[in-house]
Amino acid sequence: MSFTPRFPHFLHGGDYNPDQWLDRPDILDRDVELMHKAHVNCVSVGIFSWARLEPEDGVYVFAWLDEVIDRLWKGGIHVILATPSGARPAWMAQNYPEVLRVNDRLQRMHFGERHNHCLTSPVYRRKVHAINTALAQRYANHPAVILWHLSNEYSGDCRCPLCQEKWRGWLKDKYGTLENLNKCWWTSFWSQRYTDWSQVEAPGPMGEVSNTSMWVDWRRFSTWQCKTFIENERDAVKAVNPELLCTANLMERFWDYDYFDLAEAIDVVSWDSYPEWHSGDDVQRAAEFAMNHDLMRSFKDQPFLLMESTPSQVNWKPINKLKRPGMHLLSSLQALAYGSQSVMYFQWRKGRGGAEMFHGAVVDHDGSENHRVFRDVAQVGQALETLESLYAQPRKKAEVCIIYDTQNRWAIDYAQTGHSKNMRYYDTVNMHYRSLWQQGISVDLKDMRTCTDLSGYKLVVAPMLFMFRGGIEEKLRAYVEKGGTLLMTYFSGWVDEFDLAYLGGTPHGLMDVMGIRGTELDAIYPHDENALVMNDGRRFAIRELCEIPENRGAETLGVFENDFYAGMPCLSRNRYGEGTAYYLSAKLEQAGLDAIYGDIAQALSLTRALPDNLPKGVIATERGGAVFLQNFSGQEQRFSLSEPYTDLLTDEAMQNITMPANGVMVLKK
Ligand code: GAL
Repeated sequence: MSFTPRFPHFLHGGDYNPDQWLDRPDILDRDVELMHKAHVNCVSVGIFSWARLEPEDGVYVFAWLDEVIDRLWKGGIHVILATPSGARPAWMAQNYPEVLRVNDRLQRMHFGERHNHCLTSPVYRRKVHAINTALAQRYANHPAVILWHLSNEYSGDCRCPLCQEKWRGWLKDKYGTLENLNKCWWTSFWSQRYTDWSQVEAPGPMGEVSNTSMWVDWRRFSTWQCKTFIENERDAVKAVNPELLCTANLMERFWDYDYFDLAEAIDVVSWDSYPEWHSGDDVQRAAEFAMNHDLMRSFKDQPFLLMESTPSQVNWKPINKLKRPGMHLLSSLQALAYGSQSVMYFQWRKGRGGAEMFHGAVVDHDGSENHRVFRDVAQVGQALETLESLYAQPRKKAEVCIIYDTQNRWAIDYAQTGHSKNMRYYDTVNMHYRSLWQQGISVDLKDMRTCTDLSGYKLVVAPMLFMFRGGIEEKLRAYVEKGGTLLMTYFSGWVDEFDLAYLGGTPHGLMDVMGIRGTELDAIYPHDENALVMNDGRRFAIRELCEIPENRGAETLGVFENDFYAGMPCLSRNRYGEGTAYYLSAKLEQAGLDAIYGDIAQALSLTRALPDNLPKGVIATERGGAVFLQNFSGQEQRFSLSEPYTDLLTDEAMQNITMPANGVMVLKK
């Protein structure tokens, strides 16, 4: 199935802001010509155009957009049409101050910036609905328009009186009675008991900051608020043409909302990817962004779109380095390898002013095609055309599932224990991911709610599953019992979905499955030395966290080297039912995880993209029967493969391979 049946091809293009150039028809005319030269076939239009589309309350002006879309269509360029709710016009802020967001210090913001509207405001929702409807009536059946781009990078929360009232209503629906809420929020602590619903306010620095149950609920509420906001946008455009699908551009490492939940409101996941290449360790960077791509694919268990990336540099990081030769093609094809159906950019053309006037773009201020960046972009466009046969070929189902859960992440980040406020859950998940990724093993990521069927996986990995929810302990027990292999770590099964500690030992409900009970969590200093010593003598450093185990029948595979828990199991394996459960009691250096997952991959014969051992930093990823070979090592690499392949990009035979730094190949047998 294609997301864009009017144009079922890899999309190549980017954010296009013709509304900044309406007084320069010569430039707008030239854009289409340049798009062809850059092998661009699609642009996203109107993302921040509200002030141009509705210059006065209720007065819509579409003539300029008619012209833009018609010009693009005549030139064979497709359009992803945006709804403009990401930034509102000044008159709206002036006429209806309730659309402005109230920050966590309870101050109402003034007009300015973007992404700062109130998510509750009935006025804002009504205005958004109205302009979305008008846009849809005018363009949803235009042959150029292939997808809706709802708003831009939804984020944040608001604490205005309307939102506070909504919050209380949401809590009433969730808890039914105040007594129940008091119980689930453990409010007898510090005399926090509520005796009337009107006393409950949003958490924040002006009031309650440390009730973690309340905070986790606030994040769930914010997710729900945003989801209903998106549904209001979506329903407006879909009422006109239900066939035209909706996407929203999501972000990397995003924390504010639970994306697994939010993604239910859209048809297609897309995201904005801005790695800091060449800032130190590109292999690590590549591991992070590969996981991001896999996460985006996993949210809806379907391919996704790369909606934004930079053709060269960004302008908002402390150091804005250019992509080195090769990196643009490499990082673009990395997205494709993990299931993207597009390579899109922010932005088509550099503006003359505004915060992003120096942000990388396909067309620089010189307006010329004679530019390194332009050539890099054209090369990617050509590559997408060459790889067209992969469009209908998604990734194969992964054999490994990592459980990554945003609500667990919130609970960990709010918890005051261990390395307080620095438990590094996301990075830890990425370390586990990296060990599998560098072996060319495909991974799905699911959260505790969406991992309804684990039975198809050979391996399930559950790092730092501090909060159990969605009956995860029963799902994992059943999975192992029926023959699955589970690896769980320290700091798992401590609290329930209300963020209340389990009584009776951790990991809650799974101590018999793991054959281990975790008793205490030790946070160690960078100068403290400890290690996992495996039975075969391999030794791996431990950092940050150690959980002291009580062995309840598991087989010890390795022990703690030092301290008062020296000799206790640090890595153990337990047979339960038909399956196997590994328990890792400490945070290991990357090499330790690499070794463990090397052993497990062998024991389970996990499928790798290529059977060969590749040089460090050269990564193989399978998609649709092709193998994307990616050199992130920063150096030229020479190696041989056990079988001959053809590089689809060059049509050359490949077996004894020389890859330049930042090289990429797409191999087929
Ligand atoms: C994104 C945003 C774009 C642009 C871009 C710059 O986060 O959606 O509008 O600001 O960053 O890198």
